Amino acid sequence: MNGTYKIHLAKAVNIIQKSNYVIALVGAGLSAESGIPTFRGKGGLWTKKGEPGPSQYRNFVKDPKSWWINNLDEQQDPERTNFRNVIDKAKPNQGHLALYELEHDGILKHQITQNVDGLHFAAGSINITEIHGSRANIRCISCEFKTPRVALESSIAKLSYTEKIKLLPPSCHRCGGVMKPDTVMFGEPIPSSVLEECVVQTKKSDCILMVGTSATVYPAASFPQEIKTRGGKIIELNPSSTSLSEISDVSIRGSTSSTIPDLVKKLGTQQH
Ligand code: APR
Repeated sequence: MNGTYKIHLAKAVNIIQKSNYVIALVGAGLSAESGIPTFRGKGGLWTKKGEPGPSQYRNFVKDPKSWWINNLDEQQDPERTNFRNVIDKAKPNQGHLALYELEHDGILKHQITQNVDGLHFAAGSINITEIHGSRANIRCISCEFKTPRVALESSIAKLSYTEKIKLLPPSCHRCGGVMKPDTVMFGEPIPSSVLEECVVQTKKSDCILMVGTSATVYPAASFPQEIKTRGGKIIELNPSSTSLSEISDVSIRGSTSSTIPDLVKKLGTQQH
């Protein structure tokens, strides 16, 4: 551990110990060492295939049947298929497990994650809001009712292509509305119940850990700024600088699969 790193770690521990309600805003960087590519930066999904525009959701709403038919064809978009496959096979890394420990020790009150991979839950965490949805679910665009994606897939698996198409788009068992993947599309509003929970947690917080996110996508990136405006603290955990580095109280550089365990260890030694 170099000197600067030690000083920044000690500063972060000091801030956390003086805070009453610590939360985290988490991004793709946390899952990078679980084999899931990030979106921006080197090797990022959008860096490779270009960021989808705000019309992504509008196009879905305009013609959900075509979207679902297109979605059936895994050859149609190999990058998308590959991204989905690595998510489905991914396991939590030391970063996820260390966040679970902070939650378990009562230090971390809540995690707002932009990740759709479900790895926080796989690591044992429970106080999680998935602001961009989850790959595991499909959701009704009218009443926000959610069901497991696998339930749909297994219900149509044995059908012929023609029969499958007749059942698309899947309809909501509660209100008959159109179902879409729970993962939030570009141009899609965050489901109101989810956004509400993020706002409630942010309002309670006086310290936020910004974990592996470029903090470029809104409304997620507004939460640390809201906390800072109220006199709260921002602790940035990222190997590189982000769009909020300037307003961060301390930046811990390195992969979160090692920096968060270091933070847990330091917090632990300080307590005993
Ligand atoms: N450990 C920690 N952070 C890392 C690591 C690592 N091993 N590797 C990369 N990072 C950092 C990068 O420096 C970058 O700041 O992770 C961040 C990833 O940024 P993005 O790719 O922009 O991902 P994210 O911030 O989660 O994007 C937000 O954008 O495209 C949408 O819906 C998508 O949820 C996503 C949202």
